[in-house]
Amino acid sequence: MSGGSGAQYGLRLIEVLTSLGHEIDLVVSAGAERVLELEVGDNYQQILDLTAVQYDVRDIGAAIASGTHPNDGMIIVPCSMKTLAAIAHGFSQNLIHRAADVMLKEGRKLVLVNRETPLNRIHLKNMLAAQEAGATIMPASPGYYYHPKTVDDLINFMVGKILNVIGINHDVIKAWNPDTAMDEITKSSTK
Ligand SMILES: Cc1cc2nc3c(=O)[nH]c(=O)nc-3n(C[C@H](O)[C@H](O)[C@H](O)COP(=O)(O)O)c2cc1C
Repeated sequence: MSGGSGAQYGLRLIEVLTSLGHEIDLVVSAGAERVLELEVGDNYQQILDLTAVQYDVRDIGAAIASGTHPNDGMIIVPCSMKTLAAIAHGFSQNLIHRAADVMLKEGRKLVLVNRETPLNRIHLKNMLAAQEAGATIMPASPGYYYHPKTVDDLINFMVGKILNVIGINHDVIKAWNPDTAMDEITKSSTK
């Protein structure tokens, strides 16, 4: 997790992945800690503690800093524009940047869930550079065609999309079906 807005996406992803039996190596940047405090408050540590391993972001000698460490991929959620920039330019200043660099050099999955608006030219160029190097850029922009009723619905939409991209089966969101979606709208409008 880095210091973009949207810490709740990261927390929900941890909950879902661990409930599905997946093991997570977690790194939280100082920026992410600040955002967690400001956006979530006091109740996030118990969710972070669901992860199998937590590394200090300054520990550039941790296991995940090496391509020899086996894993299926890496998701940075939220991914700040600073972390995106570091990855796009191969300028690894902390363990998140280094582990992402390893994903790209090893040809493994790297998903960056960025959040910023509007985007300046530097952000856009960095997104393109990271995508060209092999990352998947997934702006945190939930769709509204599922007719979200709550903030949780919006969070689940993004988490479901992330899981789809990394190829993990889940039931966080159903596959889009316009017929059933229209049935739901009709049901709720006749209530
Ligand atoms: C409440 C809060 C919200 C932020 N939201 C964003 C954001 O949406 N996108 C972004 O790129 N940076 C955002 N930032 C700024 C980053 O946290 C900051 O640039 C930080 O240095 C990023 O470092 P990191 O990538 O190592 O976590 C936010 C900071 C705070 C405190």
